[in-house]
Amino acid sequence: MKRVLSGIQPTGSPHIGNYLGALKNWAKIQYDYDSIYCIVDLHAITAYQDPKELNTKIQQLAGILLAIGIDKKSLVLQSRVPEHAELAWLLTCVTPLGWLERMTQYKAKSQAQETISDGLLQYPVLMAADILLYQADVVPVGDDQRQHVELTRDIAQRFNSLYPEHGETFTMPATHLPTVGARVMGLDDPEKKMSKSEPGAGHAIGLLDDPAVIRKKIMRATTDSKPGVDFDDPGAGVRNLLAIYQAFTEASNEDMRARFSGMRYGDLKKTVAEAVVAGLEPIQQRYREIPPEQITEALRLGSENARRIANSTLTKVKRAMGLFTFD
Ligand code: TYM
Repeated sequence: MKRVLSGIQPTGSPHIGNYLGALKNWAKIQYDYDSIYCIVDLHAITAYQDPKELNTKIQQLAGILLAIGIDKKSLVLQSRVPEHAELAWLLTCVTPLGWLERMTQYKAKSQAQETISDGLLQYPVLMAADILLYQADVVPVGDDQRQHVELTRDIAQRFNSLYPEHGETFTMPATHLPTVGARVMGLDDPEKKMSKSEPGAGHAIGLLDDPAVIRKKIMRATTDSKPGVDFDDPGAGVRNLLAIYQAFTEASNEDMRARFSGMRYGDLKKTVAEAVVAGLEPIQQRYREIPPEQITEALRLGSENARRIANSTLTKVKRAMGLFTFD
C-alpha cells in the first residue's frame, strides 16, 4: 500500500485554511493509503513557544484531528519519534546552504523576526526528514508548503545519487493539493494568506469558533465596491469567499455560477457563513465529546507504531552513508 504523510504545527489556532488546504484531504484519503499524520512540535519551537501553552495546544490539536475523523492509529507526535531529528541531521549534511536560504517562507519569517534561530533555517530539512523517514509517496498540503515538498524531492534525489551503492534509499514524494481551497486568504485582507499567527480578530476563522463568531467574521469580510458577484472577474475578497463556500460544500463550478452570479454581497456572505457553520458543527460536536485520555493514548500508540517504520529507514540511510550499524 502506498503511504501518505503530512504534518501540522501546534501553534496558534487551527483555522479553515488549514482545514480546506490540508486536513479535509487528510481525512478523505487516509484509507486509500497507509497514513501518517504528524503534529510537528519540533517545527513549532523554531520560534519561541510558551511551554505550558504549547503543551495545551498539542492536546487541543490532537483532539481536533480526531474530531475531523483522522484515525487514531495514524496520529504521530513528532518529538516522540526521535528518528525525525536524527534523520534531519543526516540530511542537513547533504543539503546545500543556498537551497535553504532561497526558501520563501524562510525569507519572509526571518525578515519578520529580530533574532532568527538556526532552527528556522533548518526547518525545511526537518520537514524533508518527516516525509522521507516514512518513504511517503503522497504529501497532502496547502499551496504554501509546495516549495518545501519540492525541496524534499531535491534532497532525496541528491542523497540517492551521492550514495547509490545499496540502490535508491528514498522514495520520491509527490505533492497533493486540493482543487479548491489550496490557498485560503485572510478575511480582513484577501491579499494575505490566512495564517495562524496573524493577530487580527477578523482575519481567520478558527475551527472551534462559535457559530455567532463565524457569522460575524464573515459578515465583516473585505469585499469591493462592485454591486454584486461578478462571477467571471471577482475581486480577491469575493473570490476567497466563493472558494471557501465551494471547498466546504463541494459544489460544482456550474452550480457555483448559477447560485452566485450577480448575488449581492450581503446575501453572499450569509450563504457562505451558513455553509461554514454547517461544515464545522459536526467537528466541534465530536471535539467536545472526546475524552482527554483518548487523545493522550492515541498520540502514544500512533507514535510507537511510527517508530518501527522510522527505524527501518534510518538503518538504511546509515548503511548507505557508511555509518556503523549493528544489523
Ligand atoms: P502549517 O502548520 O502551517 O499548516 C498545516 C497545513 O495547512 C495548510 N495551510 C493552508 N492551506 C490553505 N490555505 C491557507 N491559508 C493555509 N495555511 C496553512 C498548510 O499548507 C499545511 O498543509 N511545515 C508545515 C508542517 C509540516 C509538514 C511536514 C507538512 C511539517 N512537516 C511534512 C507536510 C509534510 C507547516 O508549517 O504547516
